[in-house]
Amino acid sequence: MSLDLNVTQADKPAKTLPDAQTVTAVRHWTDRLFSFRVTRPASLRFRSGEFVMIGLPDDNGKPILRAYSIASPNWDDELEFYSIKVPDGPLTSKLQHIKAGDQIILRPKPVGTLVLDALLPGKRLWFLATGTGIAPFASLMRDPESYERFDQIIMLHTCRLGAELEYGRELVADLRHDPLLTELYGEGFANRLLYYPTTTRESSPQMGRITDNLLSGKVFEDLGVPAMNPAEDRAMVCGSLEFNIDAKKVLEGFGLAEGANSAPREFVVEKAFVG
Ligand code: A2P
Repeated sequence: MSLDLNVTQADKPAKTLPDAQTVTAVRHWTDRLFSFRVTRPASLRFRSGEFVMIGLPDDNGKPILRAYSIASPNWDDELEFYSIKVPDGPLTSKLQHIKAGDQIILRPKPVGTLVLDALLPGKRLWFLATGTGIAPFASLMRDPESYERFDQIIMLHTCRLGAELEYGRELVADLRHDPLLTELYGEGFANRLLYYPTTTRESSPQMGRITDNLLSGKVFEDLGVPAMNPAEDRAMVCGSLEFNIDAKKVLEGFGLAEGANSAPREFVVEKAFVG
């Protein structure tokens, strides 16, 4: 599909809409999940973990926009996004068909609560994600500033099926040999990024909901880290509304309190894009 975002009139030269960006790559991970990369507006500055509005024009040319976390780190020349495909979703039913060379609409106004500035200094930074909620952490995991601020980054990701973990699995495997991070932090860097993927509806080496595995202490035991405590641990949460509510309760149970950009504390929460 090639989208025509050009305004062409007989008496005027072709003019591209101001917020159009070009798709550079698309990868389908499962029949429900895909990621894509687009050109980055020269003026766009963002903090890793933030989101922007992206979309496509509808049949009448009116934009259909949704919030998407930027999955690429802020040093990247391009922008990456990770999306679910909802068959009857107003945007994703169309967006899932994009290919390199197509154009999408991107409003260059990044915002969001999953930013390092919203957390007090600490020792370990936990990322808690379900499904496509891993997207903002794909950005933060690749940002050297995360490793400047914390000794360890711990990525907990839960999906129903093993194949749905693949995007995160590949990202972490690549990161452990990342030339920039290895140059900055040495070979020992790989030990500073812990990864704990689990499934809930298909058998895999580690199973169970993040909330249950934290409450039972299984995560701490398996990873060899102390139980979460407000003196050392900071966390960011991104998933469905229900997951966010339950994860917040679990974190509060460990004595952590929710913060914001204007009032940094021990954890922050944001809802993943759905639909
Ligand atoms: P489960 O299979 O036990 O529902 P979904 O696709 O429904 O958004 O779920 C993605 C993953 O998040 C699934 O593994 C699901 O587990 C898990 N999940 C859904 N809701 C919660 C919740 N409230 N607390 C913890 N994990 C959840």
